[in-house]
Amino acid sequence: MKHVKLSDDIYYLGVNDRRTNLFENAWPLPNGVAYNSYLIVDEKVALIDTVEYGHMEDFLLKIEEILGQTPIDYLVVNHMEPDHSGAIKQIVNKYPDIEIVGNKKTFPMLEGFFGIEEGKKEVAEGDTLKLGKHELSFYMAPMVHWPETMVTYESTTKTLFSADAFGSFGTLDGGVFDDELNLDFYHDELRRYYSNIVGKYGNQTQKALAKLSTLEIKQIAATHGPVWRCHINYIMDKYQKWSKYEAEEDGVVIVFGSMYGNTEKMADHIARKLSEEGIKNIRIYDASKTHASYIISDIWKYNGLIIGSAAYNGGIFPPVGSLLDKLKNMYIKNRHLGIFGNSSWGGGGHRTLQKWAEELKLEPLGPKAEARCAPNTDDLALCEEIATEVANAIKNQN
Ligand code: FEO
Repeated sequence: MKHVKLSDDIYYLGVNDRRTNLFENAWPLPNGVAYNSYLIVDEKVALIDTVEYGHMEDFLLKIEEILGQTPIDYLVVNHMEPDHSGAIKQIVNKYPDIEIVGNKKTFPMLEGFFGIEEGKKEVAEGDTLKLGKHELSFYMAPMVHWPETMVTYESTTKTLFSADAFGSFGTLDGGVFDDELNLDFYHDELRRYYSNIVGKYGNQTQKALAKLSTLEIKQIAATHGPVWRCHINYIMDKYQKWSKYEAEEDGVVIVFGSMYGNTEKMADHIARKLSEEGIKNIRIYDASKTHASYIISDIWKYNGLIIGSAAYNGGIFPPVGSLLDKLKNMYIKNRHLGIFGNSSWGGGGHRTLQKWAEELKLEPLGPKAEARCAPNTDDLALCEEIATEVANAIKNQN
């Protein structure tokens, strides 16, 4: 196969992972994921990031096909998470004179993960590195997604090597560039990737975006997902929105935790009332069944969120509690919130939801709706009031 190029001298070196079930051993990969690396061939040769360990052989072969016996001069490490740093040790073994380009936070991780202490070339904000006609400059992007993360800008082709930023779940099935593939496939996977992996770091992403706004960017080469060259505004706009915790559309995610269907009945009742109030995007999720990854992604998409839980041993039903922990860790905000619960014999579900909302400074709309065992007519009427208030908040926002 011909090598894929971003320009005459910049090669795409990505690999597709269709075997791993869980990214970071935590987030489902039904559509796989791509680990992207890039090679710039000039008077000096620079490799930008590597790939995950399990895909190293293909990766090394591709490099050899392009370079033959020519050595690599620099390995730029934008990000040390092992899905990108996994092949560093083998690269260093194969090219012992290589200089590893990173910042002061990169190198302790390089030593920690791989025991590598030699061959370091430290760069700081705005530093440049001339390869020949190509020149690289480096910008720190801490916490997008780890503290050492930086991005690298190549000024001749105006290519931004952006590490995890602007990346996506989903393999690259033939098409590599955004104009070679149907982006419909990636809409949800982009948001799921952002919300699951980077979502906690909205403020830091905002800072990185402000920094990048000073650069003229013609291509974005992320470490996952498509290379952006025709839809740069699209992906920049998405990142602006997501990192500000702004929803994409009007709609309500209803999440429930229910052991025997009584709390689920309240969720269905709320959904019907929302529909009567004119809300068209309504997604109900059973927290016991759907992985939090997908629920969180839809929470990032829609501006309404209603969560209900049964009580369980005096606290919240564990699958809902696990989701609340994740959302709290991600500092979820800017959502029209409703909560409901079922006290059964001990209570604790609604109480935990109330406390969670207070901690996140989210104000639950509507009255307290907490059934005792099976919801009665009064409980369901209270659920309707919550639905109406959330629907009104959404309508009044526009
Ligand atoms: Fe794709 Fe944070 O590594």
